[in-house]
Amino acid sequence: MTSEERRVWQLCAQCGTRLPDDAPESSCPACGGLLEIQHPTPRELEPGGTGAAGLRARFDARCCMTGDGAGRSGVWRFADVVHPSATHPVSYPEGNTPLLERERVARWAGCEGLLLKHEGMNPTGSFKDRGMTVGVTQAVRVGATAVACASTGNTSASLASYAALAGVPALVFVPAGQIALGKLTQTLAYGARTLLVRGDFDACLTLARQASSALGVYLVNSINPWRLEGQKTIALELLQQLRWDPPDWIALPAGNLGNTAALGKALREAFGWGLIPRLPRLLSVQASGAAPFWESYTHDFSTRRAVQAQTLATAIKIGDPASWHRAVEAIRSTNGVVARVSDAEILEAKAVVDSSGVGCEPASAASVAGVRQLVRERVISPGARVVAILTGHVLKDPGILQSYHQEQEPRPALANRPHEIEPALGEVERILEHVREELREKS
Ligand code: F0G
Repeated sequence: MTSEERRVWQLCAQCGTRLPDDAPESSCPACGGLLEIQHPTPRELEPGGTGAAGLRARFDARCCMTGDGAGRSGVWRFADVVHPSATHPVSYPEGNTPLLERERVARWAGCEGLLLKHEGMNPTGSFKDRGMTVGVTQAVRVGATAVACASTGNTSASLASYAALAGVPALVFVPAGQIALGKLTQTLAYGARTLLVRGDFDACLTLARQASSALGVYLVNSINPWRLEGQKTIALELLQQLRWDPPDWIALPAGNLGNTAALGKALREAFGWGLIPRLPRLLSVQASGAAPFWESYTHDFSTRRAVQAQTLATAIKIGDPASWHRAVEAIRSTNGVVARVSDAEILEAKAVVDSSGVGCEPASAASVAGVRQLVRERVISPGARVVAILTGHVLKDPGILQSYHQEQEPRPALANRPHEIEPALGEVERILEHVREELREKS
């Protein structure tokens, strides 16, 4: 095997153009198509070596490493299959998120083996940090003078933080009035130049792509292949937490489809390289008002129609997802399923996740709502081992919480209204009695 063949390449899925891993483009310079990172297999890397077993042992040995930066990261632990030639990672560090067992959520979903992978426990509160550490590392590596993204809020918060870590100016495009308060304020706090675009996310992405090619800023949306390499580590880390014994299903919310694409790639590679003995099935869940991918899935992906997105889960309020083709590949290659759930179902799932003490943002709860739907439809068996990805933190969207718990009429079943009281013991006693009564009724 030549050193050429051992290299990591960026490959255009559309026209076959192949670029070295240090090329500064974030999409294909020949046709504008999306690039994909191509890794050599462990056997190609180390002919006669220990292959997948050696790779697994290396990943396991790096768990919980102490010291500074990259050694402690749940992304860079997997550097061999993410970005092997990155010598100076821009790392918070990130990843190392918990895999949780919560009986209350499992019971609600009707799936006793349900586990929650809480990506909201990343440093800026969403899974985006896993892709961003790799995207910004690559930006620095190729000498970018500014970085940019379009976002529904989480990518912008993450980019703002990592750009600050790297000392590179960041420009973010977000739909004016349509991103959650926690995300907007985070983005401002970390210091990104924030453009409130009078349009939807799809308009923001078009503008960011134009700015990238016309003004030479490095785009780190999930169309950037390095972002997806980082996001693959959600799957790699959960497989490692399960001691490389894969679950039957992995459920995740879907908007721009970068994450669906990344998880599909991670699973295909992990299976192809022998890291896992079976392929889990992907369940990609959209909000009913923003479900072009679901609609296409119901026609065996023979159609593609953009929609005017409408959902209170603003993170996934996207009508024309960019990573379409690679997400189709992810669903097909994992024998996956695409589902859609209503805003009411998302809110109910969120209230269950929240009141179990875990908490997540609205879009994240779509994964749990999707699992419940598929169990009811008997596609997922109640005894299946399922991991639902919670993509963002409960504090990302305080507006939704305030409305659900304090304002909405009629009062939602799980609303937890606060009580304003006089500073008098009698008032506390009255409320405590009320709590006890409720408990008696439930038992
Ligand atoms: N969950 C959350 C919390 C998100 O922020 C996003 C996407 C998704 C799920 C869907 O992932 O787009 O890869 O299908 N947020 C992007 C952003 C669009 O700009 O923060 P996807």
